[in-house]
Amino acid sequence: MTAQSLTESPATPPLVERVRQDFPILEKTVHGHPLAYLDNAASIQRPLAVISRVDAYEREGHANIHRGVHTLSQSATEAYEAARAKVARFLGAQREEEIIFTRGATEAINLVAQSFARPRLREGDVILLTEMEHHANIVPWQMIAAATGARVVAAPVTEEGELDLERFGTLLREEPVKMCAVVHASNSLGTINPVQKLVELCKTAGVPVLVDIAQAVPHGLTGAYAAGADFVVFSGHKVFAPTGIGVLCGRYGTLETMPPYQGGGDMIERVSFAGTTFKAPPARFEAGTPHISGAIGLGAAIDYLDSLDLPALYAHESALLRYATQRAAELPGLRIWGTAPEKVAVFSFTLEGAHPHDIATFLDTDGIAVRAGHHCCQPLMQRLGIAGTARASFAFYNTFEEVDRLFRGLHRIARIFG
Ligand SMILES: Cc1ncc(COP(=O)(O)O)c(C=O)c1O
Repeated sequence: MTAQSLTESPATPPLVERVRQDFPILEKTVHGHPLAYLDNAASIQRPLAVISRVDAYEREGHANIHRGVHTLSQSATEAYEAARAKVARFLGAQREEEIIFTRGATEAINLVAQSFARPRLREGDVILLTEMEHHANIVPWQMIAAATGARVVAAPVTEEGELDLERFGTLLREEPVKMCAVVHASNSLGTINPVQKLVELCKTAGVPVLVDIAQAVPHGLTGAYAAGADFVVFSGHKVFAPTGIGVLCGRYGTLETMPPYQGGGDMIERVSFAGTTFKAPPARFEAGTPHISGAIGLGAAIDYLDSLDLPALYAHESALLRYATQRAAELPGLRIWGTAPEKVAVFSFTLEGAHPHDIATFLDTDGIAVRAGHHCCQPLMQRLGIAGTARASFAFYNTFEEVDRLFRGLHRIARIFG
């Protein structure tokens, strides 16, 4: 790319301009500038279709579910269960009952750790993770390890931010691995792991595997369950749905063997002081009143995705990442972290002389929202020898013009701190 072409950003496709109209928040100004929301890996924005569906439910459809014989309770139950069916189809589950609604990916991983892994682990067993996991896919396993005497072992990541597949395979063969949990797409570097291969390696070794697809689904990577993972988890708020709703999807036969994670209403068959019996999954794992509007919002988010030309929009997202990656060459002090050939649209970087938090603070004054810090991946930052990065993460509603604004801001920061 020539210096001339770098100053002329590609035109944002009309399709993207249309999609932007679906997101009311994108009309907002911050510090007098149009919002450039580049923090989508932390939480993506909500389209009107989701906002309106949740609003309609709250205005006209709210009642508690599963328990009422009255009309409103029945229609709320139907809407909640319809959302479950949509998620099952979205992930390629074999049946709706394989979908458990949770608060998010974090709660889903804790559920698997406590209910599936804990009863199966013995002293000296190994839980295999990778160095690029989010804390949500580390800490629950450390807690289980402490409770059972098992050990957590992390497969290494290369300087480029790729999983060392050979080492991963060796660890699976040579260590007494009884559980594996891996991320499909890294939130801090964007690396896409070869999930099919990882699942195959685990299957060959006879090791159950959970795949954290929290950062994969927003970019259309929904195939980990169909690829054979025993469990997949994600959060609704990263895929256009409200916060506080997430999903655990697991093989029904396995779910049936798992004890409840929490006790309470709606998950029981019969309660007496002599003892309690539990419902079959998924109800067994959904104690208490769930996040009904959240689940309905997640169903609406899936409907919304179904209404879009996703291949074109994901191609646009990739083009944004390529463009940002090319423009990085303009700034000699800028280093990109995560240079794997297969990446989701995450642009993680440091700029010589400027602390990532200063970068994020300066960009905010221009109305540009990026994230700075360790991105809940402290072990990965330790591996890379850095305290943190600044991270621009793109969604398909972002534009080339916003990438240009990001770089105008970075040039300014480089001048000030350089
Ligand atoms: C890869 C990954 N896994 C898990 C999580 C945890 O998601 P939540 O905080 O919504 O439970 C995140 C959130 O950033 C993530 O990026």
